Amino acid sequence: MDSPLMKLLHLDSSIQGDASASRHLSAAVVDRLQALHPALDIAYRDLAADPLPHIVPAGFATPEAAALLDQFLAADILVIGAPMYNFGLPSQLKAWFDHILVAGRTFRYTEAGAEGLAGGKRAIVALSRGGFYSEGHPGAAFEHAQSHIGGMLGFIGIQPEFVVAEGVAFGPEQRAAAIAAAEAHIATLEPVALRTAA
Ligand SMILES: Cc1cc2nc3c(=O)[nH]c(=O)nc-3n(C[C@H](O)[C@H](O)[C@H](O)COP(=O)(O)O)c2cc1C
Repeated sequence: MDSPLMKLLHLDSSIQGDASASRHLSAAVVDRLQALHPALDIAYRDLAADPLPHIVPAGFATPEAAALLDQFLAADILVIGAPMYNFGLPSQLKAWFDHILVAGRTFRYTEAGAEGLAGGKRAIVALSRGGFYSEGHPGAAFEHAQSHIGGMLGFIGIQPEFVVAEGVAFGPEQRAAAIAAAEAHIATLEPVALRTAA
């Protein structure tokens, strides 16, 4: 059964506008999920065009920070377009995560260790990178975008699914093949199970 209230939060963070592979792929993920769940309530933020400030202690107490966290907590589905910049994620996207990983709201420390409090969400990250960093490639040790995003989401209780286009800087043929492979992956994305935990 589908819920008419299922909320999707869509973020992009590439600075490359219409030429962006991650924007193209994150939009394709949203299209796929919308085809599976026509009643989705979709919110969108372009973190490159509409960036967040770096966090400072007082920054957590602003109305904008509170609204951002509430928007995230209310979402059932998170779709993130993430380019690799300098082996990691864009600072604009990191600033968003810095507002979301908040002790007492999305994680807490217990005597048994850290516990994620934001479980029950589906997260799909569309990631593009110029070179090759997947397992077995010599560059794998320099992959700090997928691992960092996956680590941050995992820390707050969310196990993301990654759709990756890599080697997009290795000529137009490789770029087209990488994007086609990612699109084929997107076409297999399963419907979203209803939220089981708050
Ligand atoms: C500022 C900048 C830094 C980049 N750094 C890397 C990098 O460290 N490794 C890499 O493989 N590609 C790098 N690239 C290439 C991008 O990862 C590639 O163009 C990717 O498609 C970007 O995503 P987008 O198309 O959504 O903008 C960089 C591109 C830019 C603009």
